[in-house]
Amino acid sequence: MIKIKNLKKFYNNRLILDISELDLDAGKVYSLIGRNGAGKSTLLNILSGVLSSDEGYIETDLDETILCPQEPMFFKGDVVYNLTEPFKLMGKNIEISKVREQLKNFGISELENSLISTLSGGEKAKVQFVRTKLYDKKIVLLDEPTASIDKKSTALVEEAIVKMKNEGKLILIITHNYEQALRISDTIFEIDDGKLIRRRI
Ligand SMILES: Nc1ncnc2c1ncn2[C@@H]1O[C@H](COP(=O)(O)OP(=O)(O)OP(=O)(O)O)[C@@H](O)[C@H]1O
Ligand SMILES: [Mg+2]
Repeated sequence: MIKIKNLKKFYNNRLILDISELDLDAGKVYSLIGRNGAGKSTLLNILSGVLSSDEGYIETDLDETILCPQEPMFFKGDVVYNLTEPFKLMGKNIEISKVREQLKNFGISELENSLISTLSGGEKAKVQFVRTKLYDKKIVLLDEPTASIDKKSTALVEEAIVKMKNEGKLILIITHNYEQALRISDTIFEIDDGKLIRRRI
């Protein structure tokens, strides 16, 4: 579903990514680990079309890709606006009952009419994850979705990730939590010195 060949990305003549080959399939969870600054977010940004690579070849379906970025991004406004407006802008209608159901699943129903600017860091991360899920895309790229959220909510996010995989989606998740990677993924990759190394099948 995603194929990479000889991908290279440089920043100021520094080689950040140097991936000779990668094949990712539908219906799988792949975890991506690695030190700060290793190039993990850069790779997800390239796979979502936010950034371009400098060399190489990528085969993917950008129309069926959604990125949950490391830094949450929202419109000014409340939670429900942020969970409906992006879909309206794409000319799609999203049922409010679906939005409410997802908020309930993550235990944040009471935040429905809260302004995004008043939310805690973890609450913002949960709203962003809910929005990512509502997009219902086939390729789901998650950049440290549970870095700021509590244990109970992390379990809910992990459950949702496995459910999406069972629906046939391809999930690529960046995490610094190796235990989490072991819990949810089929394959764990590490980025080290720009190279992608398969750590666990
Ligand atoms: N626009 C840019 N210009 C120059 N250097 C950049 C730019 N964006 C990222 N970098 C550098 O590229 C490297 C990879 O950054 P990236 O954000 O992909 O790291 P990461 O693996 O996601 O790290 P973290 O775990 O801290 O999120 C870092 O050293 C970063 O400073
Ligand atoms: Mg990052």
